[in-house]
Amino acid sequence: MKFFVDTANLNEIREAASFGVLDGVTTNPSLIAKEGDVDFKQHIAAICEIVQGPVSAEVTSTDVEGMLREGREYARIAPNVVVKCPLTREGLKATRRLNDEGTKVNVTLCFSSAQAILAAKAGASFISPFLGRLDDIGENGLSLLHDIVEIYDNYGWETEVLAASMRHPIHIIEAARMGADIATMPFKVIDQLFNHPLTEKGQAQFLADWQKSGRK
Ligand code: E4P
Repeated sequence: MKFFVDTANLNEIREAASFGVLDGVTTNPSLIAKEGDVDFKQHIAAICEIVQGPVSAEVTSTDVEGMLREGREYARIAPNVVVKCPLTREGLKATRRLNDEGTKVNVTLCFSSAQAILAAKAGASFISPFLGRLDDIGENGLSLLHDIVEIYDNYGWETEVLAASMRHPIHIIEAARMGADIATMPFKVIDQLFNHPLTEKGQAQFLADWQKSGRK
């Protein structure tokens, strides 16, 4: 399973890359807004200098022509830019056109298997089911992920399943058990994956014993 970090913060992206486990980046308009008054295209270019893998840049137009205009501009920023389109009627029309032009599209805001089927049919390179936001309203995000992986496997569809809106390590572990292609997660969640009290305790003991033995 590939690991993407879900942030537009350059320090977090650098730090995640330094762990040696980072395969890509997802951004969205809210994450870009958190970075303040940055120039969008320059900021995406800066991310692409840090990470070689796919970097998702989301369109903010709501009509197909606007999405195509933005998507074509974003695709020119760097070869690893993936255009992110919402799972709307206009978003899927743009997905089909961009895909046919050779631009990869990540279809975002997916909350049902029916929507995931449409995205694959429209030529999406990635489908992003939002697990955490479903959990927030009392639905089961992992169950949706399971269904999408199964449906895509039935047909050998090449659209990669990008589990998104991941909130904690259990989401990541279960997504891996289900065979999701990618998990995108906030930096905090990548960091949490390291934690185990026995690792910390064991390391402290090893170092204490080493020092007690008089070695430096
Ligand atoms: C995915 O690409 C989205 O940016 C993201 O996972 C949304 O997550 P959130 O529900 O934590 O905002």
